[in-house]
Amino acid sequence: MSYRLFAVTAPGLEPLVMTELANLGLSAQKPTSFSLSGEPVEETGGVEFEASRTDLYRANLWLRTANRIIYRLGEFRAVSFPELRKKAARLPWETVLSPGQPVAIRVTCRKSRLYHSDGVAERVAGAIQDALKQPVPLKKFDESSLPLPQLIIVRFSHDECVISVDTSGALLHRRGYRLETAKAPLRESLAAGMLLASGWDRQSPLVDPFCGSGTIPIEAAMMARKIAPGKNRQFAFMDWPGFNKKNWEKVLQQATSHEIRHSPVIQASDRDAGAIRIAKENADRAGVLNSIQFECLAISAVQPAGLSGWIVTNPPYGVRISPGRDMRDLYARFGDVLREKYPAWHTAILSSSDVLYGQLRLPAQDKIQLINGGIPVSLYLGRVE
Ligand SMILES: C[S@@+](CC[C@H](N)C(=O)[O-])C[C@H]1O[C@@H](n2cnc3c(N)ncnc32)[C@H](O)[C@@H]1O
Repeated sequence: MSYRLFAVTAPGLEPLVMTELANLGLSAQKPTSFSLSGEPVEETGGVEFEASRTDLYRANLWLRTANRIIYRLGEFRAVSFPELRKKAARLPWETVLSPGQPVAIRVTCRKSRLYHSDGVAERVAGAIQDALKQPVPLKKFDESSLPLPQLIIVRFSHDECVISVDTSGALLHRRGYRLETAKAPLRESLAAGMLLASGWDRQSPLVDPFCGSGTIPIEAAMMARKIAPGKNRQFAFMDWPGFNKKNWEKVLQQATSHEIRHSPVIQASDRDAGAIRIAKENADRAGVLNSIQFECLAISAVQPAGLSGWIVTNPPYGVRISPGRDMRDLYARFGDVLREKYPAWHTAILSSSDVLYGQLRLPAQDKIQLINGGIPVSLYLGRVE
């Protein structure tokens, strides 16, 4: 059986998820919709792909930059509630829901006659009951209260209804290693995206001199050592009636058998001793503590580990940390340190504005627009000159 899947990503990360899927032997494309004038428009926020059941397991296990993977259970046109209930009841719910499994239904409606999202959710819940012939407990989807219900995603657009089922459960960036965070942590998926976009070869030295809770160096060590990001967590598909435990265990075993012990030099520093303590604990939980050299250092005291390599970092940008404080001096100093100690190193620096980045006086060869914790940011890619 083949599954029609959609990997949900933060806007800007779609090309990286496509590359990750290609590395798994899966080809994906950006979905298109049509403008009022009939022109095709590429949608953001994810990519579509088809996969076997084994590949669905592999994609959840391996994707570092996606938020979740959803499975398109069915689609149809509906303009009235009875029509919605009747058509939704025909979908193969028995393949994804065990009897008594609680569900959460998330609805969005755009330009459709059925626009009342609570009403739509109620009819879809009724349809599931009709199909399974027993009551379906409805719950809220709250990632902080486990066990999670099975998430059902209903999307109406121009009277066309698409019903999808989440295959992941908790968001994929939740690898399970980060129990504590320092100030303004990055999502693991964004940190992985920065590393992939930077073109780091996974062999040269890598430095994060503003490491906070260690997300970038930990993700880097996991990538270099071929550690699957999802190997220590549960996924929603594991509760489906058709879950093939043997198959999953094989996928997991294959993944762990390819892990490698050694990693290139990865240096992580921060001037905050509390952040370094947290970063070390996170690295320990991720199983990569021995791959990272942690040090409590201000930016002016860092020392390069080699003649060339990559600096991948997100310095403070004064929005979430020290609001209102001018960060320009810090950026100017960071630029001086780079020119003095890291000539010709590659850089991937996440920052909130061109003005701040400009203080570094480093030309950017490329700039990728992203969102970090609701704040629009850019990843500036370049080389120290
Ligand atoms: C945006 S946070 C980094 C967050 C990190 N990427 C994470 O995922 O947790 C910026 C970090 O820069 C550190 N920092 C601020 N000024 C510094 C300086 N002059 N030298 C070194 N680190 C500094 C802060 O302590 C903070 O942890």
